[in-house]
Amino acid sequence: MNTAIIAAAGSGARMASGRPKQFLPLAGIPIIVHTLKAFEQCEDIDEVIVVLPADETSEFISVAGKYGLRKIGRVVSGGATRAESVKRGLLTIRTVTAEVVAVHDGVRPFVTVEEISETVKSAREHGAAILVASAVDTIKRVSGDAVIDTLSRADLRRALTPQCFRYELLRRAYDSVDVNDPTLTDDSLLVERLGERVSIVEGSAANIKITTPQDLVVAEAYLKGCH
Ligand code: C5P
Repeated sequence: MNTAIIAAAGSGARMASGRPKQFLPLAGIPIIVHTLKAFEQCEDIDEVIVVLPADETSEFISVAGKYGLRKIGRVVSGGATRAESVKRGLLTIRTVTAEVVAVHDGVRPFVTVEEISETVKSAREHGAAILVASAVDTIKRVSGDAVIDTLSRADLRRALTPQCFRYELLRRAYDSVDVNDPTLTDDSLLVERLGERVSIVEGSAANIKITTPQDLVVAEAYLKGCH
């Protein structure tokens, strides 16, 4: 069984809206629902675990019903960090039937069904696979207020989600770290630290993470067909 863990337990501090960004409306529908619809429609995903702020879990069951999200198997309370939230979801997966786990940010509503499928298939074959996009800006390494190095743009990719792994590999990765470590900004990093190879799947730059009020403006434009 392939399971998606949707990490949506952030507080949305950078959005400064008073409501976590994953629940803000995009074309009249909560961002998290747009995201979940892609996983609902993907044949390579069998069940979905949604990780939410503790005070949002009970209300969410009715939201899921309203939008016909039938694959949601569990709604789990998140933790203080993204890594802790993902681990809480991971610990609810039944070991005997688990195959691939796809971890996705709840605030990335523009992921496509095809991108999810391709990443799941690559992980099934290679063990670990993440969706990436090319870097459009030249990236500098800095120290204090000075540039100390320029990285080769051709060798750089932006890490998107989903990030997909065989279950036992992701469990081993999460069992090997302290989930409160603030440097754990994605799941791939944990697997890389085990010395395991992570494959890449080239994805679309449209798969943005909605973090700031400006991102919401861009997202509305995407939905109006500007991408
Ligand atoms: O904070 P960041 O931008 O890395 O958040 C990425 C995703 O992780 C968001 O969808 C957010 O809701 C989720 N998250 C979480 N639990 C936290 C912090 C973030 O599920 N404690």
